[in-house]
Amino acid sequence: MMHIDNLVMVRGTKPVVHGIQLRLAPGAITALMGPNGAGKTSTVLGIAGVIEPAFGQIKLDGLDLKGLAPDAIRRHGVATVPEGHQVLRELTVRDNLRVAGSGLGRGELDAALQRTLDLFPELKDKLAQPAGDLSGGQQQMVALAQALVVTPRFLVIDELSFGLAPTVVARLVPVVRRIAAQGIGVLLIEQFTQLALGLSDHVYVLSRGRVSYDGTPDRLRADPDILHRAYFPVSDREAVGLT
Ligand SMILES: Nc1ncnc2c1ncn2[C@@H]1O[C@H](COP(=O)(O)OP(=O)(O)O)[C@@H](O)[C@H]1O
Ligand SMILES: [Mg+2]
Repeated sequence: MMHIDNLVMVRGTKPVVHGIQLRLAPGAITALMGPNGAGKTSTVLGIAGVIEPAFGQIKLDGLDLKGLAPDAIRRHGVATVPEGHQVLRELTVRDNLRVAGSGLGRGELDAALQRTLDLFPELKDKLAQPAGDLSGGQQQMVALAQALVVTPRFLVIDELSFGLAPTVVARLVPVVRRIAAQGIGVLLIEQFTQLALGLSDHVYVLSRGRVSYDGTPDRLRADPDILHRAYFPVSDREAVGLT
């Protein structure tokens, strides 16, 4: 299990995540939802070690990862796919995957590449192309493949469908399911509500840096007002005349 407790993230001088608690289970897909600016990416950057949390614990089997460098966190089995399919555009797809697997021995790397290409067969004939020449969807596949090369225990995906056409997104959905079915715990940040609810086993909704919902996707579907309140807080509804 991954236990995140009392996580506080500060951007600039402003606290934007106010002591949240999240639980990620192996093999489960956990959605982290919420409107723009709610603090989802800040949470991801804290988990990945890109920005050191101001306070809190990020525990993997009792070991606190908070304060470790991004590389060390990755070595402990927590991989992140950052927002906006960030690949090394000048490098070939093969080299993108090699860089991601640079800690592995030759045989391990070959096996890892084989495994990830099984998930993304459409990358097989793109291996020699610069990653920057690929479509957005293929770049997101490369970004996912990079994270999977090291066989993480937990995978954090910030905006799976960011900038992608619906048909491409539809292609990624079964891949996320297969990743979880391999036992990897997934934290999924996804703006398409129905997609996130359809994929996830558990949902957290973040509103202004606080968890406003912690429960099953079914309960959230049954009570759309919960999401509505998170996306349109009362003060905003008053401002636009909804209340
Ligand atoms: N680089 C930054 N510097 C200062 N504030 C930031 C920065 N990035 C994000 N923020 C602020 O942090 C808050 C949370 O943003 P973010 O974590 O990106 O939310 P989300 O991913 O849910 O849209 C917002 O108020 C945003 O304006
Ligand atoms: Mg974000």
